[in-house]
Amino acid sequence: MTEVVSKLHLLGEHTRHEIDEWVARFPAGKQRSAVLSALRFAQEQNHGFLTPELMDAVAEYLKLPPIQVYEVASFYSMFETHACGRHHVSVCTNIACMLNGSDQVVAYIEKKLGIKIGDSTPDGRIFLKREEECLAACTGAPMMMVDHIFHEHLTPETIDGVLDNLK
Ligand code: FES
Repeated sequence: MTEVVSKLHLLGEHTRHEIDEWVARFPAGKQRSAVLSALRFAQEQNHGFLTPELMDAVAEYLKLPPIQVYEVASFYSMFETHACGRHHVSVCTNIACMLNGSDQVVAYIEKKLGIKIGDSTPDGRIFLKREEECLAACTGAPMMMVDHIFHEHLTPETIDGVLDNLK
Protein backbone atom coordinates (compact mmCIF):
# COMPACT_ATOMS: atom_id res chain seq x y z
CA MET A 1 0.00 0.00 0.00
CA THR A 2 1.31 3.47 -0.88
CA GLU A 3 1.79 5.74 2.10
CA VAL A 4 0.22 9.18 1.65
CA VAL A 5 2.64 11.90 2.72
CA SER A 6 1.06 15.08 4.05
CA LYS A 7 1.76 18.25 2.05
CA LEU A 8 0.03 20.60 4.47
CA HIS A 9 3.34 22.15 5.55
CA LEU A 10 3.60 23.69 2.06
CA LEU A 11 0.78 26.13 2.77
CA GLY A 12 2.01 29.31 4.42
CA GLU A 13 0.28 30.95 7.34
CA HIS A 14 -1.19 33.75 5.22
CA THR A 15 -2.54 31.28 2.66
CA ARG A 16 -4.20 29.17 5.38
CA HIS A 17 -5.71 32.25 6.94
CA GLU A 18 -7.18 33.37 3.63
CA ILE A 19 -8.52 29.89 2.88
CA ASP A 20 -10.14 29.76 6.33
CA GLU A 21 -11.85 33.07 5.64
CA TRP A 22 -13.25 31.82 2.34
CA VAL A 23 -14.39 28.50 3.78
CA ALA A 24 -16.29 30.40 6.48
CA ARG A 25 -18.36 32.16 3.80
CA PHE A 26 -20.00 28.91 2.73
CA PRO A 27 -22.26 26.46 4.56
CA ALA A 28 -20.56 23.66 6.49
CA GLY A 29 -19.47 20.85 4.20
CA LYS A 30 -19.39 23.12 1.13
CA GLN A 31 -15.68 23.90 1.34
CA ARG A 32 -15.34 22.90 -2.31
CA SER A 33 -16.72 26.36 -3.09
CA ALA A 34 -13.49 27.82 -1.69
CA VAL A 35 -11.20 26.02 -4.14
CA LEU A 36 -10.89 28.97 -6.55
CA SER A 37 -9.85 31.35 -3.79
CA ALA A 38 -7.58 28.79 -2.16
CA LEU A 39 -5.73 28.23 -5.42
CA ARG A 40 -5.42 31.97 -5.97
CA PHE A 41 -3.62 32.42 -2.65
CA ALA A 42 -1.53 29.28 -3.12
CA GLN A 43 -0.41 30.58 -6.51
CA GLU A 44 0.38 33.99 -5.06
CA GLN A 45 2.40 32.36 -2.27
CA ASN A 46 4.42 30.50 -4.90
CA HIS A 47 5.14 33.71 -6.88
CA GLY A 48 2.89 33.07 -9.85
CA PHE A 49 2.29 29.37 -10.45
CA LEU A 50 0.95 26.19 -8.91
CA THR A 51 2.86 22.95 -8.45
CA PRO A 52 1.27 19.49 -8.08
CA GLU A 53 2.43 19.47 -4.45
CA LEU A 54 0.72 22.79 -3.73
CA MET A 55 -2.50 21.60 -5.34
CA ASP A 56 -2.29 18.45 -3.20
CA ALA A 57 -1.82 20.61 -0.13
CA VAL A 58 -4.91 22.66 -1.01
CA ALA A 59 -6.92 19.47 -1.50
CA GLU A 60 -5.70 18.10 1.81
CA TYR A 61 -6.48 21.34 3.64
CA LEU A 62 -9.99 21.47 2.20
CA LYS A 63 -10.47 17.71 2.71
CA LEU A 64 -11.25 17.17 -0.97
CA PRO A 65 -10.06 14.56 -3.48
CA PRO A 66 -7.04 16.07 -5.32
CA ILE A 67 -8.79 15.68 -8.69
CA GLN A 68 -11.37 18.30 -7.64
CA VAL A 69 -8.54 20.78 -7.17
CA TYR A 70 -6.62 19.80 -10.31
CA GLU A 71 -9.69 20.24 -12.50
CA VAL A 72 -10.24 23.80 -11.28
CA ALA A 73 -6.56 24.69 -11.65
CA SER A 74 -6.40 23.35 -15.20
CA PHE A 75 -9.71 24.88 -16.33
CA TYR A 76 -9.32 28.54 -15.43
CA SER A 77 -6.83 30.67 -17.34
CA MET A 78 -6.03 32.61 -14.18
CA PHE A 79 -4.03 29.62 -12.92
CA GLU A 80 -0.66 28.47 -14.18
CA THR A 81 0.50 24.92 -13.59
CA HIS A 82 3.99 25.39 -15.00
CA ALA A 83 6.87 27.57 -13.82
CA CYS A 84 6.47 31.17 -15.03
CA GLY A 85 7.13 34.78 -14.07
CA ARG A 86 5.48 36.23 -10.97
CA HIS A 87 3.55 39.08 -12.64
CA HIS A 88 0.99 37.90 -15.20
CA VAL A 89 0.38 40.18 -18.18
CA SER A 90 -2.58 39.32 -20.45
CA VAL A 91 -3.28 41.43 -23.51
CA CYS A 92 -6.82 41.15 -24.84
CA THR A 93 -6.76 40.47 -28.58
CA ASN A 94 -10.45 39.98 -29.15
CA ILE A 95 -12.41 41.99 -31.70
CA ALA A 96 -12.80 45.40 -30.01
CA CYS A 97 -9.21 45.41 -28.84
CA MET A 98 -7.97 44.10 -32.18
CA LEU A 99 -9.74 46.95 -34.02
CA ASN A 100 -8.10 49.37 -31.62
CA GLY A 101 -4.54 48.16 -32.05
CA SER A 102 -3.99 45.10 -29.80
CA ASP A 103 -1.59 43.62 -32.37
CA GLN A 104 0.64 46.65 -31.97
CA VAL A 105 0.29 46.43 -28.19
CA VAL A 106 1.47 42.81 -28.22
CA ALA A 107 4.33 43.62 -30.60
CA TYR A 108 5.38 46.57 -28.44
CA ILE A 109 5.40 44.50 -25.23
CA GLU A 110 7.23 41.59 -26.87
CA LYS A 111 9.92 43.96 -28.13
CA LYS A 112 10.15 45.83 -24.84
CA LEU A 113 10.54 42.65 -22.78
CA GLY A 114 12.54 40.69 -25.36
CA ILE A 115 10.19 37.69 -25.11
CA LYS A 116 7.31 36.21 -27.08
CA ILE A 117 3.75 35.56 -25.94
CA GLY A 118 3.74 32.50 -23.68
CA ASP A 119 7.23 33.23 -22.30
CA SER A 120 8.56 34.75 -19.09
CA THR A 121 11.38 37.24 -18.73
CA PRO A 122 14.66 35.54 -17.72
CA ASP A 123 14.61 37.37 -14.35
CA GLY A 124 11.23 35.77 -13.54
CA ARG A 125 9.59 39.18 -13.25
CA ILE A 126 6.95 39.03 -15.99
CA PHE A 127 4.96 36.25 -17.65
CA LEU A 128 3.37 37.33 -20.96
CA LYS A 129 0.37 35.06 -21.11
CA ARG A 130 -1.20 33.63 -24.23
CA GLU A 131 -3.74 35.98 -25.75
CA GLU A 132 -6.89 36.38 -23.75
CA GLU A 133 -10.40 36.35 -25.05
CA CYS A 134 -12.60 39.38 -24.39
CA LEU A 135 -11.98 40.58 -20.84
CA ALA A 136 -15.21 42.60 -20.82
CA ALA A 137 -13.60 46.02 -20.90
CA CYS A 138 -14.24 46.69 -24.60
CA THR A 139 -14.97 50.38 -24.08
CA GLY A 140 -11.40 50.72 -22.82
CA ALA A 141 -9.83 48.97 -25.82
CA PRO A 142 -7.02 48.23 -26.30
CA MET A 143 -6.54 46.85 -22.83
CA MET A 144 -4.51 44.38 -20.78
CA MET A 145 -4.86 42.75 -17.40
CA VAL A 146 -1.86 42.70 -15.09
CA ASP A 147 -2.23 40.55 -11.98
CA HIS A 148 -6.02 40.90 -12.22
CA ILE A 149 -5.97 44.69 -12.58
CA PHE A 150 -7.30 46.19 -15.82
CA HIS A 151 -5.33 48.83 -17.74
CA GLU A 152 -7.27 50.43 -20.57
CA HIS A 153 -6.75 52.77 -23.55
CA LEU A 154 -3.18 51.52 -23.79
CA THR A 155 -0.43 53.58 -25.39
CA PRO A 156 3.32 52.91 -25.38
CA GLU A 157 3.62 55.41 -22.51
CA THR A 158 0.94 53.81 -20.33
CA ILE A 159 2.34 50.34 -21.05
CA ASP A 160 5.80 51.51 -19.98
CA GLY A 161 4.33 53.03 -16.83
CA VAL A 162 2.65 49.78 -15.81
CA LEU A 163 5.36 47.29 -16.77
CA ASP A 164 8.29 49.33 -15.46
CA ASN A 165 6.68 49.41 -12.02
CA LEU A 166 6.42 45.64 -11.66
CA LYS A 167 9.06 44.53 -9.19
S1 FES B 1 -12.44 42.84 -26.90
FE1 FES B 1 -10.91 43.38 -25.50
S2 FES B 1 -11.99 43.72 -23.66
FE2 FES B 1 -13.51 43.08 -25.04
